[in-house]
This record gives sequence, structure tokens and C-alpha cells, in this order.
Amino acid sequence: MHFHILTLFPEMVLGGLNTSITGRAMEKGLISVDAINIRDYSQDKHRHVDDYPYGGGAGMVMQPGPVCDAYEALAARTGKRPRVIYLTPQGRVLNQKIAEDLAKEEDLVLLCGHYEGIDERALELIVTDYLSIGDYVLTGGELPAMVLIDCVSRLVPGVLNNESSAEFESFHDNLLEYPQYTRPENFRGLTVPPVLLSGHHQKIDAWRRERSIERTLRRRPDLLEDAVLAPKEQAYLEALREAIAREETARPEDGPDAGKTDLQ
Ligand code: ADE
Repeated sequence: MHFHILTLFPEMVLGGLNTSITGRAMEKGLISVDAINIRDYSQDKHRHVDDYPYGGGAGMVMQPGPVCDAYEALAARTGKRPRVIYLTPQGRVLNQKIAEDLAKEEDLVLLCGHYEGIDERALELIVTDYLSIGDYVLTGGELPAMVLIDCVSRLVPGVLNNESSAEFESFHDNLLEYPQYTRPENFRGLTVPPVLLSGHHQKIDAWRRERSIERTLRRRPDLLEDAVLAPKEQAYLEALREAIAREETARPEDGPDAGKTDLQ
């Protein structure tokens, strides 16, 4: 999979992605990341790429020419016109499903804006998708582009060591991941749940599923609307919901036992 980043700060994105798992995926040739400096396509002798907004107002706007020319040069070089994702807080909020859809592409272009944004005409001409990484505002699209590349790359076959690990983690079946433990068995008086030491794989799987359901109910109940649950698991969820509701009526919200249920 090939990522092409249109940016004013190529060293920022390359520096971040060259390390760790994405760096290794690049070395193995499973992904490639090239950062195209929009400034190289400036039509001005001082290499300016921004100007004042028509109609007045604060800040500067990135001009359409360098952005479109950078994309057209890429298209000419590769002989393809890949999807162009503009990273903006005005976009659809990225989630695992969108990442899975993007991972099917062979090439993706990520367009990073700065200042007060990019001239609307460039966006109209080249952008196919508007994506946000959350409802907060950053100074530019570089960090969001890196987040997106990290999230999509790990879905490319071979990028994660263990093929199954992308499948069974948080958001599999729309449930959060169960708690994990490693050595030591006793850490500052806190012990590992005995079932995990039992060697009984069916019981371990059942325990993990229940912890996933419980954790999702407590931390991200909104995800449960689309969760895939077996009838027995649905019954467990209902019992847990009732236990939590009973507790909430029995004691004030911030009491010492807040967050505990009689099912624990
Ligand atoms: N650019 C600035 N803020 C952003 C955000 N939250 N998501 C994507 N791109 C952005």
C-alpha cells in the first residue's frame, strides 16, 4: 500500500512514521510513504504558498495552484489518480470501519492543510474524502495524517507480527478488548485473575468475552448498539445493566464503591 502525503512539513511526517511498526513495514516493502512538499510547487519566487483571504478575516489561506499542481504531478508520475483524503475537523470522524475500507486501496493521498485552510477550489477539484480524527482542532493535518497511516497500515497483511492480533482486539465485534496481564502473578498485592492461570481455554475465552462486554458497557456503551452478541452474552449484558442500575439507585454516584457491581 502506498501513502502519498501532500504537506508543507515533510520531515515531520517522515520522522514520525520511520520508526516502530510502520518503519518496519516500510523496510519490508509492505507499505511506502512519500511526503511531497507542496512548497516545491509554489508559483512565486519567494516560494509562498498562502495569501490573504478574499473578503477579509484572520489568517492566511493556502493557494489552490501549488496543491493541485502537487497532486497532478503525482498523478502523472504514477499514472494513477488515487483517492485524496483531506484531513480536517470538518470531516467524518475516523473509525475502524473507515480504516478497513481505506486499507483496500492500493494508493492513498493525504492532503494536510495549514493556516486557515486551503482554497475551496482546490478541494473541489481533487478531494474525494474529508476525514477528521476527532472533535478538536489541531494546528495542521500532519498529525491526523500520521494517525490515519498508522491505523490503516496495521490492517495491511504482514504489518503486524501476529496476523490474528488485528482481528481480536478493541472494536472486534464492536467490543472493547478484555484486560491483559503478564508476570509477575502478584504485583503490589494485586493478583492475576485465577481463571487465566487455570489452563482451561474455554473458561478463559468465556471470561474474556464477559470482561469485554462489561468494559464496553462501562466505558463505551454507545458501541453496544452494533455489537455482535450470542443469546447467552446478550442475557449477561442485560443482567449487568440491571446490576449497575440497582447500584446507582442504592448509593450516591461518587461513593467509595462507584464502578463496582455485584456481578464482579
Ligand atoms: N486538522 C486540524 N484539526 C484536525 C482534526 N481534528 N482532524 C483532522 N484534521 C485536522
